[in-house]
Order: sequence, then C-alpha cells, then structure tokens
Amino acid sequence: MPHIDIGDLKLPAQYNTLQQGLFDEIRAKIVHGLWATASKLPSTRKLADELQVSRNTVSAVYEQLVFEGYIESRKGSGFYVSLELPDHYLPDNDCKTSIAVSPIQQIKNHSFAPGVPDLSELPLKKWQRYLQIHASRTAILGSHDVQGCYELRQAISDYLSASRSVICNANRIIITSGAQQALSISIMATMNATDTLLLEYPGYVQMDKVAKLFNIDKQHVDVNPFTGLNIEQLLASKAKALYVTPSNQYPMGTTINTEQRLKIIEWAQRNNSWIIEDDYDSEFQFAHRPYTSMQGLAGQLNLDKHVIYVGSLSKVMFNGLRLGYMVVPEHLVARCNEIKDALSGDSPAHMQYALADFIADGELLRHIRKMRRLYKQKHQLMTQAIEQHFGSNVEIISQAGGLHITLRWLGGLDEETLRIKALKHGITVRSLSYYEPDGNKGRTWRGIVLGYGNTPLDSIDVKIAQLADCFFS
Ligand SMILES: Cc1ncc(COP(=O)(O)O)c(C=O)c1O
Repeated sequence: MPHIDIGDLKLPAQYNTLQQGLFDEIRAKIVHGLWATASKLPSTRKLADELQVSRNTVSAVYEQLVFEGYIESRKGSGFYVSLELPDHYLPDNDCKTSIAVSPIQQIKNHSFAPGVPDLSELPLKKWQRYLQIHASRTAILGSHDVQGCYELRQAISDYLSASRSVICNANRIIITSGAQQALSISIMATMNATDTLLLEYPGYVQMDKVAKLFNIDKQHVDVNPFTGLNIEQLLASKAKALYVTPSNQYPMGTTINTEQRLKIIEWAQRNNSWIIEDDYDSEFQFAHRPYTSMQGLAGQLNLDKHVIYVGSLSKVMFNGLRLGYMVVPEHLVARCNEIKDALSGDSPAHMQYALADFIADGELLRHIRKMRRLYKQKHQLMTQAIEQHFGSNVEIISQAGGLHITLRWLGGLDEETLRIKALKHGITVRSLSYYEPDGNKGRTWRGIVLGYGNTPLDSIDVKIAQLADCFFS
C-alpha cells in the first residue's frame, strides 16, 4: 500500500480559515494525481504535529474529504485516497454524463443537517440485489395501480400493525412520493377553501408550504419546550384538521402522552375534524418504548375514521428513495387515489417491488434494529460532547429519540449568526426561527436543531467542539 510523503504538503500562504486552507491543499494534491489513489494518508496526529495545527482541525478536514468522496476511512486502519474520485472534480473533457454534487445537495447532507439518516450504513449490496431482480422483469415495465403495488402495501400493512399498532390492511394504504405527497393528498382530500388547518408551532415547514400552496387558512397550536403541545388551545379550536407529530414533535422533540392523545381524539370526534398524524421517525426511541400510534389508539375506540396516518421511508431507508405512505379510512381511499392519479400517476414500479421484498424478507426490521443501536450511541455522544463543550450555556430540550437534538439558550448569540458562522466550517444547523415561518411570537430564548443521523460517530466530538468555538467566539 503506497504511503504519502507529507514533506511536500504546505499550508497555503493565504486562506479564509485554517481548515479550508488545509482542505484545499489536500484536495489539490489528490485531484492533480500527486497523491496516488489507494495511498494511505498520514494519521491525524502525525499531520497535526507536522503542520503545527490542532488535531481537531485535521480531523475535521479529513471528515470533509471523506464526505466529498476524495478519501475513504477504513475502520481501524486509517484514511486512504479514494479509488474513484468524485465525478465533478475529474477533468471535464469527456464527462458529460457525470453527476455533479450541487452545493445545495452538499449543504443538505452536511454534518448536523437535520433529516438525513446514516447513509453509509445502508446495506447497499443487498438493496442492489433486490433492485436487480426486479429491474429485469419485463412483466412490471408497464403501467401500475395508482394506489401502489399490492405487495408493497401488504408488506407495509404487516409492518405497521406489528410495530405501530396501526389499524390497517393493504386496501387502506396508498403509496406516495415521500410523506410530502401524502401530506398534500391529505389536505386535498379533506379540506375546502373555507376550512382551517391547525399546525404545530414551531412546526414542520414542509407542511406549512402545503397549506400555503392550497391557500388554506391556518391556525397555530403552540409547542412549549417543556410541556409540549398546548392542548387547551387545540381544544378551543374548531379547525377542520390538525397536523401533528405526536411521537417526536418536529422540531422541539417533545411527545404527546396517552391522556393528551385521548383528548385530541375526542376533539376530532366532537368537531368532526381530521387528525393528520405524521409518524416520520417513531422507530428511533432510546429512553422508552414508543407510544402506540394515535391512529391505533383511535382505532381501539372505533374512531380511526378521523385519522390519516402518514409515514416515510426517508429515515429508515434513505431520503432519495422518495417513498412514503398514508393509511386512510376506507371511505377516503377512492378520493385519495383520484388525487394521486391527477398529481403524479402511479409510483416507480421497480422501487416498490424491491422494497416490498426487502420488507417481507425482514431486511428492513434488521436494518432498523441495527440503526436504533447506532443512533442511540450517537445521541449519547452528542449529549456528552454538548455538555463538555458548551457547559451550562445551552440546554437540550428534545427527548432521547429520533435523529435530531434541539438546543436552547437564553440571550447572547443570535441563532442565525451561529448558523452562518457554523456553515463556514462545513456545519449545517437549523435555527429555530426556520420552523416559525409566521414570526417568532415573542419567543425570548434562542435555539437550533442539530441532526446527527448522518454525522459519523468519530467526528461528533470534533464537530460539536467547532460549533462551540463558533458559539463562544
Ligand atoms: C416532520 C417530518 N415529516 C416527514 C418527513 C419525511 O418526509 P419525506 O418522506 O417527504 O422525505 C420528515 C423528514 O425530514 C420530517 O421531518
């Protein structure tokens, strides 16, 4: 295995940040072929000593190089120049078909970008095999049932009834393009232009966008960092539908307990309203068993006719799959199918059949179990690192679950200033104000959301230390 001579690596005379300067230098060596593919890079300690910089800086640079595909990390062995360079940095004479990773895509998947699961842990070889099997089936090349392929609906139905106590069967499930399409269909199937939609506040911006798109009148239900959803406010409303994330409120990370859930279900019955339950990451609870879904609880009271249950494969598989689903009462199925037909027609067949087999063979459950352990570990490291580097200057308000941590602090640094500073170090965080599209309503504290799903275990401490530097400097 060739090793690299670091004698010729110098920090550039000018750079914006030390980290960026070092990153550019190493990348240039690799791109110009001066450091051969498969060569071993010096350890972070050795390079830090050689260049007289901190080991944290070198680790952060290596992590960014791994993220962008220039080098690879091999467990227990070190870092190596990648065998295949990212396409967008190859000389571009004959790479018309190369797929560039756009800056937006990079920022959306950076360390701490919320909403991204650990993409490196996906059993890609297995997944590829399932895709290959169905890719060569002439029989499925034609048009398909707009509701989604039956095998996938059946597999999801089995999974949801066993793991989330959802009351369903394959006929009540509609396969959608991510939870996002399910949210649009839910609104179009249940609301008129004169109806009001209740939204959690702060809340999921992608749902606010749907309300805006359809020009639906909105009301907000406040979410308090400690007491969660303001049930009294909700009970006083006559809205036609409530959008809610009861397992893990997005972005505050609070949950709704059974007593409160029952009150919400009674409210829906009394007003003849809908509950749109978004159960996007309930699989990942670390401190306790997840609550039964609201749909399942309503079903025990024969009230599931008021609930639309929405789920996604984005967290348990990967975002780019763009598959989600909704479970609706029987009488709403035909209307939802009509809407989906008009919006997008049927969903990609190969993906659906591959996913159906993946679930039916137990691969999804295996993957979820493995990821639950890994995310629990990441969550612990995050909380330890936050305690160590921020001390008592910030407070974690989210529960031990899901793929994000929500931090708050009183006074001091503005959350947008912190976000922009962090971005310069390749760290993407979200300000809490992002989740308040109609203004912060006099909130006196500041907060950010940190997604840790796709941040490698061994860079959590370094990244939190860098974020703390941005916070205190
Ligand atoms: C609250 C919430 N709902 C749903 C989703 C999943 O959406 P989709 O399936 O469209 O990727 C996310 C993803 O980040 C989310 O945060």
